Amino acid sequence: MKKNLILIGFMGAGKTSVGQAIAEKLGWPLLDTDQMIEEAAGMTITRIFAEQGETAFRETETAVLKQLLQEASEAVVSVGGGLPLREENRRLLGMMGQVVFLQVKPETVLDRLKGNTTRPLLSGDHVEERVQELLAYRNPIYREAAHLAVDVDGKEVSRIAEEIIREAGL
Ligand code: S3P
Repeated sequence: MKKNLILIGFMGAGKTSVGQAIAEKLGWPLLDTDQMIEEAAGMTITRIFAEQGETAFRETETAVLKQLLQEASEAVVSVGGGLPLREENRRLLGMMGQVVFLQVKPETVLDRLKGNTTRPLLSGDHVEERVQELLAYRNPIYREAAHLAVDVDGKEVSRIAEEIIREAGL
């Protein structure tokens, strides 16, 4: 297994902000699959979903993950919320380093993403029900993919970052 720290979890769990805090504390770079995909495609994720569809986006996620497995070492890697759903991706994540699941309650997600239009899966009506359904389906998968799970609700980013660094033995 390579020496990276990978953050997984639902949209709005704080993967990017916690990732930034950990990266700063460890002096490691922060790599983000969503950002890599947007840069490679030259367009936003919303546009990729609209023009190419979710399946094309998921293919790109796996390709980016394979690239990261080759290149990343001593990096904090933040991955899109749906990436661990593919079994192949979970296998790749496990080879890449320690996988940490940021566990979040639906209320926190809704609170954080209120008015945010950058998540195609949460656009439109019935967002509350969708978040509940997606979380119920995904949480067991996130748990299965992770070496470590951390509750994030009501905690400061720096506290979560410290907890992860300690628990991961870094
Ligand atoms: C998705 C999460 C998003 C992004 C895309 C799909 C998902 O990333 O990859 O909108 O399926 O949960 P974040 O988890 O960083 O919001």
